[in-house]
Amino acid sequence: MSETNSDLQRAYSARARWMRRFWILFGLSVIVPVVVALALASRFLADVPVTYDKIEDHFKYGSTGGERASGFPYWIWRVLPQICPQYLPGPGYASLGMLYEEGKSEAQGGLPVGVSRRRNLGLDRVFFNCAVCHSNTVRERPDSAAKMYLGSPASGFNLGGFESFYTNCAADPKFSTAFIVPEIEAQAGKLSMLDHYIVYPVAIALMRERLLMLRDRFKFRDRQPDWGPGRVDTFSASKILFNFPMDKLPKEEWVGTADFPSIWNQGPRRKRADGQQMQLHWDGNQDHMEERNKNAAFGTGTLPPTIDLAAIGRVEAWITELRAPAYPFPVNEELAARGAPIYAEYCSACHGASGSDFSGDKVGFVTPIEAIGTDRARLDSFTYDLVGNLSTLYAGYPWRFQHFRKTYGYANMPLDGIWLRAPYLHNGSVPSLRDLLEPARKRPSRFYRGYDVFDQKNLGFVSNVADEKGRKFFLYDTSLSGNSNRGHEGKAYGTDLSDADKTALVEYLKKF
Ligand code: HEC
Ligand code: HEC
Repeated sequence: MSETNSDLQRAYSARARWMRRFWILFGLSVIVPVVVALALASRFLADVPVTYDKIEDHFKYGSTGGERASGFPYWIWRVLPQICPQYLPGPGYASLGMLYEEGKSEAQGGLPVGVSRRRNLGLDRVFFNCAVCHSNTVRERPDSAAKMYLGSPASGFNLGGFESFYTNCAADPKFSTAFIVPEIEAQAGKLSMLDHYIVYPVAIALMRERLLMLRDRFKFRDRQPDWGPGRVDTFSASKILFNFPMDKLPKEEWVGTADFPSIWNQGPRRKRADGQQMQLHWDGNQDHMEERNKNAAFGTGTLPPTIDLAAIGRVEAWITELRAPAYPFPVNEELAARGAPIYAEYCSACHGASGSDFSGDKVGFVTPIEAIGTDRARLDSFTYDLVGNLSTLYAGYPWRFQHFRKTYGYANMPLDGIWLRAPYLHNGSVPSLRDLLEPARKRPSRFYRGYDVFDQKNLGFVSNVADEKGRKFFLYDTSLSGNSNRGHEGKAYGTDLSDADKTALVEYLKKF
């Protein structure tokens, strides 16, 4: 009996041992991996944009999806100005004209306006949104506070300088784990083992490879004069994404640099009173707002599958309604009243009845290049071939592009908020409105771009100051390719008016 008992006991304890082993094995082979996988997945598969309720904050700091395809790891973005200061014109991204808001930017983790953040592939990644090219600041005097305007051309932001900074830094020996990780730890505190030994070294290597590839593909920029602040070659980036043979393009296509435009009042820009679509973009190659916005996102690295349509939709809805900001300085009403009939006679057919009423026979249509006579580089850079390729974008999606077309001139656009849209013309070749009313030979042939102090007399930004507190402004030379300031001149364009009439017209345009 006792024997049977101890047999039973042995059997029980064997079973218990077996059960224990089973649970250990089960734990090791199933539960632990599942927990680890879940933890890793929640880290590496999470795709979480930082979001904002207030539309202005969403515009300034919200994501449109660009981080997924093109985002830089947040901490690498943060430390690169310390790693490669020699490739920046001054301290930090502010030296490239990026705008930091006091108080706010710190809350965004030290990110400037126009840079958004998203947790993706296990890291916080950052990238540009619409605001980086479509917002700026104005100061009354050098010592006054800057006021920020959303939806206006980012006249101070040097995108070309930004691209050069990143690609030059990537080619520098200091763009390596040995330099970047210690700098991150100096600023962010100690990294976890996973981040220190795996995540960042991999991210740095991938980023370096990608930037060097971009540097190679962006070689066409060596043939172009520097864009300077407030400008970008709009469509060459798209040609690169479509693998156009950039080194074989005809010379007319080498330069296509254009100013950033304002993007308010998109609702009234959709259709003319007679129901016809307005042709927009500088050359009027698009008449469909949603496509324009998706193209804008595409041009900044948001590839079709990664675009965040809901986030862009919020921006779209907002710029449909957004009004142009009122002129913040005094207006001489009497003088302005004298300008009104001059505007009505000379300008309104092409540019609209006023800053809020866009009716006019020719508004939203294209004036042929022979008639307008302005620089044709931007027009010629947009080609039939590119139209064909853009029409394949988003193929298979209901919102496939179908509204791009080749035109033969520049569009007659509304002049809403024109006081804030200097320098003028599609290539930003004329510093002030008053200068635009002079024939080309009397317009400044060289001037500085990038300053935000306002010239209330001539309407535009002060353009004869070379630097401020060590920050250098960009010397724009109208003799370079794509930079001509000719055209939009002759009797029909008001350049034959008397001085008094021109002064009155400028005063009137402050009210737009
Ligand atoms: C890299 C700078 C840049 C970014 C970022 C950018 N844009 Fe633009 N945007 C431009 C330029 C340059 C043009 C003018 C293109 C041309 O005609 O050559 C433009 C044109 C436009 C226009 C047409 C304006 C008109 O009246 O013709 C709209 C609308 C617009 N952008 C909206 C957006 C939106 C919405 C976003 C964000 C999803 C965005 N943009 C992001 C540079 C940018
Ligand atoms: C025949 C049509 C036409 C007439 C008339 C005309 N313009 Fe223009 N305007 C244009 C076109 C087209 C452009 C764009 C040219 C370019 O950028 O190359 C333009 C550009 C401008 C710009 C620059 C807009 C910007 O955002 O940079 C201003 C300012 C302007 N015109 C003011 C006037 C004024 C003031 C008058 C009247 C004295 C006038 N225009 C008469 C067609 C016209």
